[in-house]
Amino acid sequence: MPNIYDAIVVGGGINGGSIAYNLAKKGKKVLLLEKDILASKSSGAAAGMLAAQVELDEDGPLFALAKESRSMFPSIAEEIKELSGIDIELVNKGMYKIALSEQEENEYKQIIDLQQQAGEQAEWISQEEIRRREPALSNAITGAMFIQKDGQVSAPKITEGFLKAAAVLGVVIKEYTEVFSFQVENGKIAGVITNVGKFESDTVIVAGGAWTQKLLSEAGVQLQTYPVKGECFSVRTHQPLITRTIFSPGCYLVPKMGGRLLVGATVKPNTFDQTVTVDGISSLMEKAKKLVTSIVDAEWEKAWAGIRPQTGDGLPYLGEHPKYKGLFIATGYYRNGILLSPITGEIIASLVTGESIPIDLTAFRIDRHVKTNV
Ligand code: FAD
Ligand code: GLY
Repeated sequence: MPNIYDAIVVGGGINGGSIAYNLAKKGKKVLLLEKDILASKSSGAAAGMLAAQVELDEDGPLFALAKESRSMFPSIAEEIKELSGIDIELVNKGMYKIALSEQEENEYKQIIDLQQQAGEQAEWISQEEIRRREPALSNAITGAMFIQKDGQVSAPKITEGFLKAAAVLGVVIKEYTEVFSFQVENGKIAGVITNVGKFESDTVIVAGGAWTQKLLSEAGVQLQTYPVKGECFSVRTHQPLITRTIFSPGCYLVPKMGGRLLVGATVKPNTFDQTVTVDGISSLMEKAKKLVTSIVDAEWEKAWAGIRPQTGDGLPYLGEHPKYKGLFIATGYYRNGILLSPITGEIIASLVTGESIPIDLTAFRIDRHVKTNV
């Protein structure tokens, strides 16, 4: 009975990898199916920022989930290294969210107050101080919010790391295997139908990123999701231009290993087209030059794009399908799917095995605005 598994994970991105890894840690026989090649979509394109406080400033369920997930990275980095030999390049030096106007300055100072009231570290750094710490920053910057606990990883490496660690623990991984539909028996999931045949399991987890809705339509489920394209580029410099990640809403610069500097990212809703455009890269370049003028002398490396999975209310979908027992969904991570990957794997593995988890998942329920015709 080679095609029968304890669980089938659909999607070879970071969240499919984390879910498969966590299920394998619990002793499950897992199959992971990827329609293309592993890490070829959003997870391979991401900047890798762990920006729980920089990107998610409003207190609420997603903020709490993100902070919890952020705290898991040091141990995940060790586990992945031990099992797979892959260094996920975790950097825990903090991030700057920089202000370019008085309006942004006032807004960020309010966020600092709110985050401090919520018990988090967050501090305002004056223009003089930020330019002392990061001399390459231009004087267009009026000051910065500094978040000590927000760090970064290499997104392609952590994605590969989760998948390789999962394989080491026995997960069977098949690329170029597209799931077309589900097998359902008496209201319960019984397996999946793919381009290479059927695979059986009473547990199927869909972690298909922006393509999740396309597959769920086959099951008569309509989630509120849409794709949001993001383009990035990278350059190389002999000396690092900045020591920490510099984030502003329209443009961020992330210093990577080996003298690389990653610059992201555009935000283009409602397209699955992954081509990199001149318009996208030239607008990013203009913004990057405004932040760090000397980037003009850097050596060009490459450009790429990925498709973020966004939802109608900005919250991910995380849980079991309301009608089909055994069908779990993990999608809608939008700009924070790398950050949220450790907690996603743990949550889904616990839901599958029926173990309790000390996290309130109400806000992420699949049926919060799901429409089904099943
Ligand atoms: P994906 O990575 O999209 O993986 C889903 C996989 O499922 C794909 O490989 C797809 O081919 C496969 N699949 C889909 N349907 C099927 C099917 N029917 N059968 C088989 N396989 C299927 N997040 C952060 O936390 N920090 C960042 O700094 C950051 N920067 C970003 C920068 C850019 C430019 C972009 C585009 C995104 C960024 N993100 C960031 C967001 C992050 O990349 C995503 O939220 C995350 O990668 C989503 O992971 P995923 O595993 O859910 O989806
Ligand atoms: N989190 C950064 C991005 O999605 O571009």
